[in-house]
Amino acid sequence: MGNSDHINEKGHFLFGGWDTVELAGRFGTPLYVISEEMIRARCRSVRETFLNRWENVFAVYAGKAFLPLAMCRIVQSEGLGLDLVSGGELYTALAAGFPPEKTFFHGNSKTREELRFALSSGVGRIVVDSMSELETLEEEAAAAGKKPAVLFRVAPGVDAHTHKYILTGHTGSKFGFPLAGDSLNAAVRRASASEHVCLKGFHFHIGSQIFENTSHVMAVEIMVRAIAGFKKEIGFVTEELNMGGGYGVEFAPEGTTPRIDAFTDAMMRTLEEECRSAGVDRPRVIIEPGRWIVSEAGITLYTVQAIKKIDGIVTYASIDGGMTDNPRPSLYGAKYWAVAAGKMNREASAKVTVAGRCCESGDILIENLKTPPLERGDLLAVLNTGAYTFSMASNYNRLPRPAVVLASEGRADVIVPRQSYEDLIRGESLPEHLR
Ligand code: LLP
Repeated sequence: MGNSDHINEKGHFLFGGWDTVELAGRFGTPLYVISEEMIRARCRSVRETFLNRWENVFAVYAGKAFLPLAMCRIVQSEGLGLDLVSGGELYTALAAGFPPEKTFFHGNSKTREELRFALSSGVGRIVVDSMSELETLEEEAAAAGKKPAVLFRVAPGVDAHTHKYILTGHTGSKFGFPLAGDSLNAAVRRASASEHVCLKGFHFHIGSQIFENTSHVMAVEIMVRAIAGFKKEIGFVTEELNMGGGYGVEFAPEGTTPRIDAFTDAMMRTLEEECRSAGVDRPRVIIEPGRWIVSEAGITLYTVQAIKKIDGIVTYASIDGGMTDNPRPSLYGAKYWAVAAGKMNREASAKVTVAGRCCESGDILIENLKTPPLERGDLLAVLNTGAYTFSMASNYNRLPRPAVVLASEGRADVIVPRQSYEDLIRGESLPEHLR
């Protein structure tokens, strides 16, 4: 930080074209602020460096990263599709008027009801994760008189360098058909002869928050070998290959996030070469970035409630949010960076540990943050919180969920209201014997 583009004459932190101190005053804290322009810039970049550079490709945004109705509309207007992973995400997309044919329906444990919902709403692709799911889907498709287009999710057996909780492409993964063994083979034979599903091809997603393209490229090589094998042995022609997401985002202020084409160019070149040498047609390619689209487009504003100096050990700055609005530090050890939004011109001469307000010693958002000396009432802006924060938020300790404000050119709109105490008990009831 320290970039003068981000500071106004009052020494306040600017984000999405807004003075963040003003936003906090207007909407309260904790507050998620999302920059519409930054999301659109990322979508544009996907268009320019991927969709316009290669033929027969498509990109979908992975909604699990952040999916309020407004986000669906932005994604739609930028010409991307949506990766959805539950009935709730599908419901949200449909409620936003998102074209269902541009959606991919994922999940390793879809319920029968969700499959029914996906069929009746006409999702573009159902990404089938197991033989059990294939059987359920065939039953439901037969009953509905439909023949959905499907992909098979495959665990190609590559290890990517990331946290084990967000690693998904290894053979022992809970996701997809392992390429090793016979299960995929049996499923391809069954689906390619099925009257109830139309198998278009395959999907892989090897993990999330990955910075090097080597594992992605390796997965492509492995998949082309499999694709060539299916053509030779079963006569199955792969029309589509969905290469998932996983493109990493840098959280440290001095680092830079890799461009998306650092991944996609390498994968596409490998795909074209490998297909050529294996004698198969290059399938249509889909990518599914989530974090890369939205992470840097979001910040969270908090108010410091208490400063606690434990001599010689640590100074805590305790804030009005924490693991309920951002579980990533406690869940994955994720590192964040923050600025004192009202003190941008002051020297960062102090070091604090930013503590969340939950009754958990592990609810620490940032350790050893360099900052100007903080006082009660100061505003902290945690950067790079657009992805997997709001979408993973909880009401632990009965903390109401913060509001989400969309900062756009000349306007700032609440797209998700702050929860009230009444919201916390909405729908609950007391059984008669407890009244
Ligand atoms: N496609 C599929 C099938 C996925 O499962 C995911 C993420 C993505 C695409 C998008 O991945 P991305 O481009 O965002 O890395 N909660 C974790 C991340 C879990 C990712 C799950 N799947 C976190 O906060 O780091």
